[in-house]
Amino acid sequence: MPNPDTAQQVPALDISGLTVRYGPVTALDDVSMTVRPGRICGMIGMNGSGKSTLFKSIMGLVRPTSGRVTIAGHSTSRARARGLVSYVPQAEDVDWQFPISVREVAMTGRYGRQNLFRRITARDNEAVDAALAQVGLTDLADRQIGRLSGGQRKRAFVARGIAQGAEILLLDEPFAGVDKRSEATIIDLLTDLASHGRTVLISTHDLSTLPSFADEAVLLMQRVLVHDTPQEALRPENLALAFGVDVTERRAPRTDAEVG
Ligand SMILES: Nc1ncnc2c1ncn2[C@@H]1O[C@H](COP(=O)(O)OP(=O)(O)O)[C@@H](O)[C@H]1O
Ligand SMILES: [Mg+2]
Repeated sequence: MPNPDTAQQVPALDISGLTVRYGPVTALDDVSMTVRPGRICGMIGMNGSGKSTLFKSIMGLVRPTSGRVTIAGHSTSRARARGLVSYVPQAEDVDWQFPISVREVAMTGRYGRQNLFRRITARDNEAVDAALAQVGLTDLADRQIGRLSGGQRKRAFVARGIAQGAEILLLDEPFAGVDKRSEATIIDLLTDLASHGRTVLISTHDLSTLPSFADEAVLLMQRVLVHDTPQEALRPENLALAFGVDVTERRAPRTDAEVG
């Protein structure tokens, strides 16, 4: 039996030479990266660096100018039809007034499997109940999505991915506008999913907590500047590259004792 930890393992995500342009704007320029199953990968970059475009490309929501995205060995369209990948959009990309309950949001994770007009089965209901329990939203299941806190909204979308049985979860800025306690709850949830072999890509501005939960990190600025351990990616020299400021100057000067 093949060892799942060997390099022959099919990557959860394999992106090769991905370029995306919106008219004259190049949002992604020749991005290549591979993420193995069960990993949590942080996506770091300033506003406009292409994080959301990368997620939308993985979801097949934007058409690449060139390059290829492969999800667990499948094309984006086949991966989507099989429900392999689930997306938690950044808050500004969601209409929070939409009259849909938490339970219905989670249930949309089940629709991709068959067509929209099929009857909801007992299995669908069980999957949704279990997902809502896992994210701690059972008591709020009937509440309209917009009437939740920021952190609860994120958890409702994570429940959708769980109900779907997605192998890969993409979370775009899940900690923006979310209090520290909810952030910790979401991190626990993601860590648990990854420990069961799910792969997580998460864009975040919160660099301080990243090393506590991410296995690896990508610094993005249209291109992949660094793809390494979070500790390595967050070195001041690398952040200077990604954020275009020389944070290295803020380090204390070396004393004579340190030199040589
Ligand atoms: N629908 C769009 N039409 C035109 N330009 C876009 C569109 N979406 C994003 N962009 C541009 O593409 C670049 C990358 O944006 P985005 O992927 O949203 O970055 P991030 O999520 O890192 O802030 C930015 O310059 C942004 O203005
Ligand atoms: Mg974005």
